[in-house]
Parts: sequence; C-alpha cells; structure tokens
Amino acid sequence: MSKEINILNSNRTEVADAESLRQLDFIDKAKEYVSSLEKELGRKPRACVVTFGCQMNARDSEKLLAILKLVGYEETESEDAEFVIYNTCTVRDNADQRVYGRLGQCSNYKKKNPHMKIALCGCLIQEQSAVEKIQKSYRFVDLLFGTHNIYKFAELLCTCLESDRMIIDIWKDTDKIVEDLPVLRKYPFKSGVNIMFGCNNFCTYCIVPYVRGRERSRSPKDIIKECEKLAKDGVKEVMLLGQNVNSYGLDFKDDDPNRISFPQLMEEVCKVEGIERVRFMTPHPKDLSDELIEVIKRNPKIARHIHLPLQSGSTEILRRMNRKYTKDSYLALVDKIRRELPDVAITTDIIVGFPGETREDVDDTIDVVKKAAFDNAFTFIYSKRTGTPAASFENQVPEAEVKENFDRLLKVVQDTAREQAEKYTGNEEFVLVEGVNEHDRGLVTGRMSNNTLVHFPGDEEMIGSFVKVKLLECHGFYYMGQMV
Ligand code: 5AD
Ligand code: SF4
Repeated sequence: MSKEINILNSNRTEVADAESLRQLDFIDKAKEYVSSLEKELGRKPRACVVTFGCQMNARDSEKLLAILKLVGYEETESEDAEFVIYNTCTVRDNADQRVYGRLGQCSNYKKKNPHMKIALCGCLIQEQSAVEKIQKSYRFVDLLFGTHNIYKFAELLCTCLESDRMIIDIWKDTDKIVEDLPVLRKYPFKSGVNIMFGCNNFCTYCIVPYVRGRERSRSPKDIIKECEKLAKDGVKEVMLLGQNVNSYGLDFKDDDPNRISFPQLMEEVCKVEGIERVRFMTPHPKDLSDELIEVIKRNPKIARHIHLPLQSGSTEILRRMNRKYTKDSYLALVDKIRRELPDVAITTDIIVGFPGETREDVDDTIDVVKKAAFDNAFTFIYSKRTGTPAASFENQVPEAEVKENFDRLLKVVQDTAREQAEKYTGNEEFVLVEGVNEHDRGLVTGRMSNNTLVHFPGDEEMIGSFVKVKLLECHGFYYMGQMV
C-alpha cells in the first residue's frame, strides 16, 4: 500500500501539453461520478491495483493508482472493491495463467457488488488472442486497454463509469509520449523513471517488441525535470527504466540537440541535487559501451550493480535467440567490468529449454555462470509465446529434459551467489533504509549500492535515509549488520 500521497503534476499550472490537460478534464469528470457513488454507498468507494511483471509495469501501476486516488477512490489491497484493475504481463505463460486465475476469483466479488468495475491493461491485452478469450469467457470485465494508451486512463475510466458495455481500446503502436500525468509513488524515497519505451531487438523468444512497440526515448529535458521534481519531493534514489537502456536516444535525429547517449544522460541525472543514488535497468550485453563503464567508474552516485541478461551461455543458442553476442564476447565483457569496476555486483537472467537446446548447451551456460561468478541470477524455463519466431522453431525440448537442466543450473547459480555474497563480510557500506523488518520490529532493512539487503537494529525514523552499516554476518542472500 502506498504510504504517502505524492501526487506529482496534478497542478494545472505546471502542465504543459494539451493531451495532459485534456486528461485532467476527465479527472474532474470522474471525480463527480465517484462522488455520487460515494453518496450512494455512504462511504468512499475502494480501488485495487494488481500488478504483474516488471519494473515498467510497477511504474505504470503508480500512474493508475494516482488517478484512482485523485478521483476519489480509497486504495485497498483487496479485490473486494468498487474498481479493480489488473496491470498484466505476458512475458511467460505462467504470468498469463496467474491473471486468468485472479480474474476468475474476482468475478465472485462482482456477483455480490453491483457497483463493481473490473479493468485489465498492460502487455497481455496487446495480444489479440487474449482479448478474444476475455470477450468470450470473461464477459464480466468492464474495460480493456493496452500499453500504448495508458495515458488515457482517466478518459477510459469515465467511459467505463458511464457505460454497462465492455469498453475495449487497444492500439497497435504509438509514437506518442505523454508527459505530465499524475503519479503516485509507492515509496516516498525511491522511484522508477522511464527513460524510454519499447524494444527494437526482437530476441526470437520474446513477446515484448510486439506488445510494447518500437523504441521511443523521452527527451533528456523531461527526464531531468522529473528527477528534479522527485528530488524536491524527497526521493533519494532513482532507477532509470528501459527495455534496453543502451539504445537510449538513438531514435532521435542526428542533429537533434536531444540526442545524448545513455551514459551522458546518467551523468546529467547524477548532477540533480538531492538524488544520491542512480540505478538503471536493463542494459543489453551486445552494446554496453566503454563510455558507460567509465561513467559508472567516475560517479559514486551510480549504484554498484549491473543487471546483464545472459539468456544462454551457448553461442549457437545465442545466435538462434538473435542476441548478437557470443559466449566469449559475453565473458570478455564481464572480465572488463570486473577489472574496471571491482566493486560492482553483476546479476543476470537465464532461460533454460529454448528450442533445440542440448545438455551441452546448458553445460556452456553453467560454465559462464561459474566464470562470470554472478552475484545472482534469475532462471526461467522457456515459455513459448505465440507470434514470436521461436514459437515455430523445431525441436521444442521435452519437459523432463528442461526440468533436469534447470535443476542442474539452479544449483550452480545458488552456490555461486552464496560464495559471491560472503565476500563483503566485514565491509562498511552505505545503505538506504527501506522499511522496518516484518519479522522483527527491532530491525530495519536497507539496500546496499550493489542491491544486497541488510538487516540491522534501527527504527522507523530511519526509513528513507542513508546510513553506514558494518556487515557482520552473511545469510545467503542478505546480511545482518550494525550501524557504525
Ligand atoms: N520464456 C522464458 N523467459 C523469457 N524471458 C523473456 N521471454 C521469455 C520467454 N519466452 C525472460 C528473459 C528476460 C526476462 C525479463 O524474462 O530472461 O530477460
Ligand atoms: Fe525482449 Fe530481447 Fe527486447 Fe529484452 S532485449 S525486451 S529480451 S526482445
């Protein structure tokens, strides 16, 4: 649940573009609808935002929640509410299944609550087959929209509150970036900042380019303005978000003064007064530049953490994934990072069971895990996504074989991560305190620059501040520490 109401940009005098002003008019209109519903119910109507998937979706959900609160809903984490919205993900099939499962349960609330509206948005809704399925089997859904027109949420909400029909508004693509809409942050002290949308890489297993469209970068001016606003509002840590941040700015024309590189953008963000830590997610190994490594090196504000998705350690599988690097070039890049930035933690994503993957291919992946000594790795079982090239590749790997390879890999990943984590014992590190420990109220939990969690004695007052902590004991993926 969001702890603080930090509604940025709901003030008309600060809003520049015409579309945002139009949406503010719809916010006013929705306020009237929600206020009459409040009179009818004798209490504030409740709204619940359920988020699946990545950091991008989490950021989008903050925008949805801001609008719902602005128009008069009370936030709740229960789907027993007057407005429920699922912000969906479709990167793997299990994400889809979780959405349908939750939706099925939600229909029971709707049977008992005539005022209830159910909405779905996000990546899954960009797939035509999903929309058809919902139209056929989930008739009780009131509103469907995709990733490209989320900025129109206030308008769609009004339409939905005015109508009893299922409202569907899905765009194939967009070149539009609407700035200056309200955002409600989940944490008062840290925030994601979108720097670009979409992806042009077309890795053969991945649905993202089809559901999030082509790369569109936000102008550096708008990004810096947002960071300055956040800093003024008490945010100390920002995470710059994009599917492939290395391509930032490449969509601007050569002579466009906006055309700066991602490392240059990071340097500018580091200059924002009040922003003490800058993270980024995700760079692609094919084009992580020396300039980026240099910029990280000379900017202590940039977090000592690089998430560098490997996907596979087999050069042949990487070729068929269209990743545009090889086992050796990936390892050479990791070597360079470890040499130039010895205190940086490297984490990764790995897929097991890509079509045609053999035991030997997985041995190559395991070899990379050992040599790269990842600080952590997210391992996924390949999920066939209709419409992607890999879905029609021959030699889909039998489930039992995938499972065996997955388990073999997971063991090495866990052993490596444990060994890596231990090496910081005895260090003194600055951590940003994120909250009181749920299991022991005498402890607080913070994050080191390299993203590792640390628990140590402290109190609520410390939330949102940086403190120096000595790392006393490593417990696998987290440390127990003591303030110094
Ligand atoms: N199957 C399994 N994992 C996938 N990912 C992306 N697409 C698929 C898929 N079809 C993983 C990749 C990516 C992460 C966000 O999700 O590892 O880096
Ligand atoms: Fe998908 Fe590849 Fe783009 Fe990442 S870089 S979103 S894996 S297509």
